[in-house]
Amino acid sequence: MRLVSLDVDIAAPRDMTRRHSTVATFTLAAVLFAGPLSAQEQLPIRNCTWCHGSSAQGFANAPRIAGQTRQYLEMSLQSFKNHARDNPYSKQYMWGATANLDAEMAHGFAAYFSELPAEPANDGDAALEDQGKAIYSEGLPDENVVSCIVCHGPKAQGYERIPRLGGMGYAYLKRRLEQWGEGYHAAAEPMPRIARNLTTNEINALASYLSFIK
Ligand code: HEC
Ligand code: HEC
Repeated sequence: MRLVSLDVDIAAPRDMTRRHSTVATFTLAAVLFAGPLSAQEQLPIRNCTWCHGSSAQGFANAPRIAGQTRQYLEMSLQSFKNHARDNPYSKQYMWGATANLDAEMAHGFAAYFSELPAEPANDGDAALEDQGKAIYSEGLPDENVVSCIVCHGPKAQGYERIPRLGGMGYAYLKRRLEQWGEGYHAAAEPMPRIARNLTTNEINALASYLSFIK
């Protein structure tokens, strides 16, 4: 089989006949050379990006999952499936989305999304950034809040089952921290215990600071 060259001619956009033949050539090439699909290509990624955004940077209530650690993504999917993560949006959206997910698919989705580049949401309150940074780095010893940096890392990049927080959306981070204080469960300790000691103002500051991290 001969490799069909992709004749993309963007210099002549008004030449519709030529553009159509280019599209046809591309489709043909894709059909001829796709070969057997790898496990990852068989995953119905659109079942997820439908809610999480086309490049998985988050959309509406669904958080960014692009660039999240693989182990955390996999653990989260399991926690929705076995209903351990029980806050309202998890129940409403993710329990259904994971109902028919087997372990192999969860592994595949986690591997796929962890490889995508993560973009910062940049949507917090800039006036609270310094306060958030101080709590993140030093904790609040008087209120029995440990520093976040010891687990989530200096750039909030996460590690294995500890999620990357840097650049996640403000509203999502705020909601997560508040809901643990309200008694909803997590996939793993220790977050409910830590979040219970944070005030609304401290949560706003942390969520703001984190949303700006690249
Ligand atoms: C109907 C919309 C919808 C669909 C479909 C959906 N999600 Fe979600 N997902 C959400 C929402 C909303 C949340 C936030 C839950 C919360 O607030 O705790 C979420 C949360 C998550 C989380 C937790 C992220 C974190 O940082 O803790 C992961 C992982 C996830 N989804 C992966 C997926 C994957 C993989 C698929 C496809 C198999 C998928 N989602 C399909 C709406 C959806
Ligand atoms: C001892 C280690 C540890 C410390 C300290 C810690 N975390 Fe976490 N954090 C975790 C783990 C593990 C998870 C995953 C737990 C889960 O999803 O149930 C997590 C999850 C989170 C999430 C959820 C992210 C998502 O994608 O849904 C947020 C938000 C968070 N932590 C914020 C913080 C903040 C803010 C602090 C400091 C006040 C902090 N954490 C301190 C270990 C830690």
